[in-house]
Amino acid sequence: MTDLFDTPANLRAIPVEELTVEQAQAELAALSKEIAHHDRLYHQMDKPEISDADYDALVRRNNAIEARYPELRRADSPSLRVGAAPAAGFRKVRHAVPMLSLGNAFAEEDAHEFVARIRRFLGLPDDAPIEFVAEPKIDGLSLSLRYEDGRLVQAATRGDGTEGEDVTANVRTIRDVPQQLPAPYPAVLEVRGEVYMNRDDFLAMNRAYAEKGEPVFANPRNAAAGSLRQKDAKITASRPLCFFGYALGEVSEPIADTQWGIRERLRGWGFHLNRPSNLCDGAEALLTHYRKIGEQRSALPFDIDGVVYKVNSLELQQRLGFVSRAPRWAIAHKFPAEQAQTRLKGITIQVGRTGALTPVAELEDITVGGVVVSRATLHNEDEIARKDIRIGDLVIVQRAGDVIPQIVGVVESQRPANTEPYRFPDHCPVCGSLAVREPDEAVRRCTGGLICGAQAKERLRHFVSRNAFDIEGLGEKTIEEFWDDGLIRSPVDIFTLEKRVEEGAIAILGRPGWKEKSVENLFSAINQRRAGIDLHRFVFALGIRHIGEVTAKSLARHYVSLDSLLTGMERAIADMPGEAWLDLHALNGLGPVKADALLAWFSDPENLPKVDFYATQDALRLEKIIKLLGIKKVDARAAQALAERYGTLDAWKRAMIAAAGAQPGPAWNELVAIPDVGEVAAEELAGFFRERHNLDIIQGFREAGVTVLDAERPKAAANSPVAGKTVVFTGTLETMSRTEAKTRAEALGAKVAGSVSAKTDYLIAGADAGSKATKARDLGVTILTEQEWQALIAG
Ligand code: IVH
Repeated sequence: MTDLFDTPANLRAIPVEELTVEQAQAELAALSKEIAHHDRLYHQMDKPEISDADYDALVRRNNAIEARYPELRRADSPSLRVGAAPAAGFRKVRHAVPMLSLGNAFAEEDAHEFVARIRRFLGLPDDAPIEFVAEPKIDGLSLSLRYEDGRLVQAATRGDGTEGEDVTANVRTIRDVPQQLPAPYPAVLEVRGEVYMNRDDFLAMNRAYAEKGEPVFANPRNAAAGSLRQKDAKITASRPLCFFGYALGEVSEPIADTQWGIRERLRGWGFHLNRPSNLCDGAEALLTHYRKIGEQRSALPFDIDGVVYKVNSLELQQRLGFVSRAPRWAIAHKFPAEQAQTRLKGITIQVGRTGALTPVAELEDITVGGVVVSRATLHNEDEIARKDIRIGDLVIVQRAGDVIPQIVGVVESQRPANTEPYRFPDHCPVCGSLAVREPDEAVRRCTGGLICGAQAKERLRHFVSRNAFDIEGLGEKTIEEFWDDGLIRSPVDIFTLEKRVEEGAIAILGRPGWKEKSVENLFSAINQRRAGIDLHRFVFALGIRHIGEVTAKSLARHYVSLDSLLTGMERAIADMPGEAWLDLHALNGLGPVKADALLAWFSDPENLPKVDFYATQDALRLEKIIKLLGIKKVDARAAQALAERYGTLDAWKRAMIAAAGAQPGPAWNELVAIPDVGEVAAEELAGFFRERHNLDIIQGFREAGVTVLDAERPKAAANSPVAGKTVVFTGTLETMSRTEAKTRAEALGAKVAGSVSAKTDYLIAGADAGSKATKARDLGVTILTEQEWQALIAG
C-alpha cells in the first residue's frame, strides 16, 4: 500500500509525539492523498482495497497529527471532507443541508469522553443527566430523500457531503421508500437514511450471478452501492435494496423535539427504522446497549459496523452544533473488525461451469466472530499477487460483511523461510487445458470447454437445478457419481438412461443406495420432464453465459417456440455486425444514436467528396475537420473521441466506410432489442448457437423425445402500469435505442404512436425534444423524461 504513495514507510512507525514539524508535514500530505485514494475506491467504484479498520487507522493517524500540529492542517485535509466527489454520469445535486459524517469511538473510554465533552460544552455538572438514542450503525450508503407536499421529488447520495448524485429514478424502485407520505406532512421534508441489503438477499443475489458466470459482490455494502449507482433503473429494481430512515435534512417546519420523536414521525409516514434502538441515560447505559447489540450482531438480518449515539433533545443538538465535518451531538461507536490470524495451508482452484478458475484459501481452522472458518475466498489471481499471499503464510482472516470470509493480508514478519510468491496455474487443474485471461477480465478461464470434466459436471449440475430441468432424484451427488462412472456425460444422456438400462448396457440397480423403487422414481421423474419442459427452462438449462433465468424468459416470450428461437438465432448470426461496426460502437463518447447518425451520413455517396475536400488541407487536425463537416448529432465530444481513435482523416474515412458496410441486419437488431438481452448476451447467444456441437445436443434432446413446450403468447401484460396506454417517443434517447424503447413498451401492453394527439397518454421526451413536446404541453399530455419512463415501467 505504502509504495503507491510518497510516505516514507518509516514515518508511520514514529509515535505522533515524536514527529518533527517537517515529518508531520510530509506525512499529512501523504495521508491526504492516500485517504483520498481509498475514498474514491470506496465511494465511487465500490471497490475498497483496504479493510474499514485499516482505513479508520489512517484517518486516526491523520487526526492525531493534526491535533498535535493544528497549524499544519491542509486545505485538502481528510478531516475537512466527507466521502468523495460524485461519480461522473449522474446529475449533481446540492444538498440544502450538508450531509455530514460521524466521528468514531473505538474504545469504551471514547464513549465516556464523548458524554463528558458534551457536558463540558453545555456547561453542565459531571452528573447531569443527558438522554441519548442509541441505534445500530448500518453498513450501507446514505441517501437523502426530498419530499415536497408529501411527494417524493428527489433522491440523492451523499457524494462529498455538499454535492451528491441524483439517483431519483433508481430510488423510486426501492420498496421501502414511500413515494407519497400520508398527511399531515410539512411542505418540505428531507429524510435521511441508509440504503442497504439484507445478508440473505445479498447471498441469494450473488449465487444467481455466480450461476451466470458473472462477477459477484464482495459484501452487502458494495452490492447496495453498486446497485444504487446503476445507469439503468431496471437493474436497480431487480436488486433487493432496503432503506432505513434515521435523520432529517431540510424541513419547512419542526416535526418533533427529540430524536426519538423524529423516529416516531418517520415510522408514521411508513419508513422502516433501524432496530434494535434504545433511549439511554448516560455513558454506562449506552455501553450496556452497545454490548447487547454486539452480541446480537451476527443474528441481525443485515450487517452493522457499530452503534450510533445521538443526543435525544433537538434543542441540545442545536446548541452543540458541529465541528468541521461531524456533529458534536453524535458519534459512531465501532465494533472491532471480526478478524483472526491463522496459517494458509494451501490454495485450491475451483473450476466453475463457465470455466472460471477461482482460488480458495485452505486454512488451519480458526474461529472468527464465533464461526469456525477453514476456507476463504481469494477472489482472483491479481488479488493474491497484490497482497503477496504465499502458502505457509500467517494470514489475517476477516468475516467481512459477516459473510464470505476473506483474507485481508499477511503478517509478513511471521513468514516462514523459503516461501515463494504464489504462481497462479495457467492450465486447468482438472482437465489440463490452457487457462487464459481476456485482457479486460480479472478471471482466468479454462479453455477445455466440453472436454473439461469440471465444467461438464458443473454444467450438468446446472442443467438439473431447480430453475432448469429440476429432476427429482438427480441431485448434485448423483450427477457427480454418474458422471465419474460414465453413466451420464452430457445432458442428453439423462434421457437415454432408461433405455440403456433396459438394453443391459448399464445398471443402476445395485449401486450403493439404489433400490428398485428409487430407480423407478428416477425414471418417472425424467419421463415427466421428457413429456414437456417449458421453453424458458430449456434455454436457461443450456447454461449459456449471461443467459440467466430472466433473460431466458424474455427469449421464450419473444420467440415462443424452440423452432422459431433456433431460426431466430440462425438469422441473427447471419445479421451480426462486423468488427468495424463493433469497434465504432464501442467508442466512449459516441453512443448508438450518434454512431448510427454518423454511418447514415457516410452511407450517402454525396457526402464522401466533402470528406475528400479536407484531404488537401493537411494542417487541419482531424477533430477540427469532423466538426467542420457538421454531421448531424456528431457533437464536439464525439469529434474528439473519433479523432483520438482514428488519428488521420484517411484512416477515419476508411474505418467509417468499413463500419457502414458492417452494420447489423434486422434479425440481429431484433435480438438485441429483446428486453434483458442487449449486445453482450446477444454475442454469447450467437457464440453458442454457432457451434455445431451445441446444435447437435439440441438435436439429441429431440431424438430422445424431449418435448419443449411453446411459451404462452404474452397477454398484452394486463397488469403493467402502461397497459392500454398510448405513448409517443421523441428526441434523442440515451439509455436505449428507439427500437428497444418501442419493443419494450409494446411488450408491456402499450400502444406506440408516431405523433401526439389528444389520445396520447404519455410523451417520453429525450434530449432535444422539439415540436412534439410543445404540442403535448399544449394538449396537456403528461410528459416524462426517459428516467421517469424507466421508473414507471419498472414499478
Ligand atoms: S446519523 C449528522 N445514524 O454512517 C450525522 N448515520 O459514518 C447523520 N450511518 O453518513 C448520520 N447508520 O451514512 C446516522 N443510525 C445511523 C447510521 C448512520 C449508518 C452512516 C451514515 C453516515 C455515516 C457516518
